[in-house]
Amino acid sequence: MCHGMVHMKQRKEVNVNGDSAMTRREMVVLAGVTAAVMCGVGGGLGGCASTEEKEKLLITSGVVNLGPASDFPAGTANTRFMDMYGIVVVNSSGEPAAIRPKCTHKGCMAKWEEDHKEFICPGHGSRYDLMGRVTNGPATRPLPAMLAERLADGMLTVDLTKLYAL
Ligand code: FES
Repeated sequence: MCHGMVHMKQRKEVNVNGDSAMTRREMVVLAGVTAAVMCGVGGGLGGCASTEEKEKLLITSGVVNLGPASDFPAGTANTRFMDMYGIVVVNSSGEPAAIRPKCTHKGCMAKWEEDHKEFICPGHGSRYDLMGRVTNGPATRPLPAMLAERLADGMLTVDLTKLYAL
């Protein structure tokens, strides 16, 4: 479904593990860094205050390389990119995708709870399944998601700017 969406040569990628000097492409992506205030966007969202989330600087644009697709097997949710990209990489049935767990009720950041296998919003208790579909309101719409693409070399990439509902 996602293959062929973006031409490889037009991509801007960030090497997740790269700690060496920035490449020109990485600099382009970083120039697109958007300051996102987690759980506080829009202000006045009283229900989010209890989470005491810190303000975080997220990369929210560009195509990013998440590493080997085999790191994200079916039936799992991987939260290791939350701090950097604000996404949880999920895989329900074999094809990974990325969820941005910003609650569709009033914008709190929902948290993946491994024990419950659900995203749970601290604001008013909405819950979402592994693919971001609402399992308990008051939210009625699914979490925004990004399609992931498995490249020929086995790496997984996600375009952070293209949001869908899975
Ligand atoms: S913001 Fe109200 S349930 Fe998430």
